Amino acid sequence: MKICCIGAGYVGGPTMAMIAKKCHDIEVAVVDLNEERIAAWNSPNLPIYEPGLQEIVEERRDKNLFFSTEVKKYIKDADVIFISVGTPTKSYGIGAGQAAELGYVEGCARMIAEVCDGPKIVIEKSTVPVRTAEVIQNVFDGYEKGDLFEILSNPEFLAEGTAISDLENPDRVLIGGDSTTEAGKKALETVVGIYNNWVPRENIITTNVWSSELSKLVANAFLAQRVSSINAISAVCEASGADVDEVANAIGKDSRIGPKFLKSSVGFGGSCFQKDILNLVYLCEHFGLADVAEYWRQVIKINEYQRKRFTRKVIHSLYNTLQGKRIAVLGFAFKKDTDDTRESAAIYICRDLIEEGADIVVYDPQVDAEEIKGLTSEKVEVASSAAEAVAGAHAVLVLTEWDEFKDLDYSALYESMVKPAHIFDGRNILDLAELEKIGFNAFGIGKA
Ligand code: UDX
Ligand code: ADP
Repeated sequence: MKICCIGAGYVGGPTMAMIAKKCHDIEVAVVDLNEERIAAWNSPNLPIYEPGLQEIVEERRDKNLFFSTEVKKYIKDADVIFISVGTPTKSYGIGAGQAAELGYVEGCARMIAEVCDGPKIVIEKSTVPVRTAEVIQNVFDGYEKGDLFEILSNPEFLAEGTAISDLENPDRVLIGGDSTTEAGKKALETVVGIYNNWVPRENIITTNVWSSELSKLVANAFLAQRVSSINAISAVCEASGADVDEVANAIGKDSRIGPKFLKSSVGFGGSCFQKDILNLVYLCEHFGLADVAEYWRQVIKINEYQRKRFTRKVIHSLYNTLQGKRIAVLGFAFKKDTDDTRESAAIYICRDLIEEGADIVVYDPQVDAEEIKGLTSEKVEVASSAAEAVAGAHAVLVLTEWDEFKDLDYSALYESMVKPAHIFDGRNILDLAELEKIGFNAFGIGKA
């Protein structure tokens, strides 16, 4: 069997590497129009940072895993085609700020229709709005090739930073297809067969295409809702003297609630949560479900509120003026163990602090200096260590929960700072009482 995946990003790259690792008899090609990205996949410096990925790529590359810009050739040769291109939120026109930009997906569908003459299974892997399969089908029909292709949905549930273990031991694999026709049933079986090489059959769920598409949006909406719920409670904790970690621990012991995804923070980021909720909101409005749309919109509003609330706390604690003050930001990625900055809370917080006149210096173990400047301001200084960032600063903000920030020598950092020295732990990974003993004015999220 030959698989071709269009799109060599955070989803396509790791997913295909795992299939290649687990299925040596399948030839897997990952194609992308972006030459630089493909060159990086073929080099010792992969274009994305993901723990454990490098080893797998090095083990399978040029054996049964290939990275190429020859998009058409590999599409033509493949039995199974995954579409794994970006679906950013539209920034213009109808649905701007909410609907997904499907131009890349449509482009792939057109290319498949143009170059393929034999039957193929086409799988949407990108996060797409519900009924995208219909769009793809329409394109195929337009080329009078509608009957050649079976369209399936196989949403990705991997989380960045833990992508490899998520792919290796998924809670479930979801495959949506048309089980009412023989061809549809056969296509479903084929894709189930690929995953069944390492995922137990009972963990592979098959549904109709729309359930599968919607489940992806709903899973992310529920996860984001938990973060916004605990973040909303963090404001109540700060006002009342309760401790948000204690509250999270207490409620998480209820097996109906469960302990995961209850970590209060400066707000969720990443390429999926906000985009998927906006998609859900757009879908609800499309169906005239205004109250349902409003319900989910609140999850995003609380996330924005939380970022603003944090920034206000920083400004207030620094005597309402940041003019000429040096503020060290530790962590810029949207979470630890990734170099991805999409929708990271740090972007918004830095921009607001710059507007207040602060001099920002950022340190992140993985994010590129140019990227940090591009997302904030050319004036932002990028340091090559935490100690370098913090020296001479009035305040330290911990915005990503990188493990190395837990083990810093905070006494030495304190010595190097302007007094009174402030520290704001946006991830609740530090011991505030210890920091106060050192001499810091220490603040956390949801801590009195
Ligand atoms: C998410 C989903 O988890 C994954 O299943 C889906 O396929 C893609 O979207 P990802 O965006 O990579 O994955 O990261 P995730 O671990 O879900 O975290 C998202 C954001 O929420 C991060 O900014 C994280 O720091 C934040 N978060 C998460 C919290 O603030 N508190 C928590 O308790 C959990
Ligand atoms: P994700 O996080 O969903 O994987 P990325 O934006 O990281 O998304 O990756 C999507 C990739 O898809 C990009 O590298 C982009 O160049 C590629 N891409 C978009 N459209 C096409 C296309 N028509 N043919 C090939 N590659 C494409």
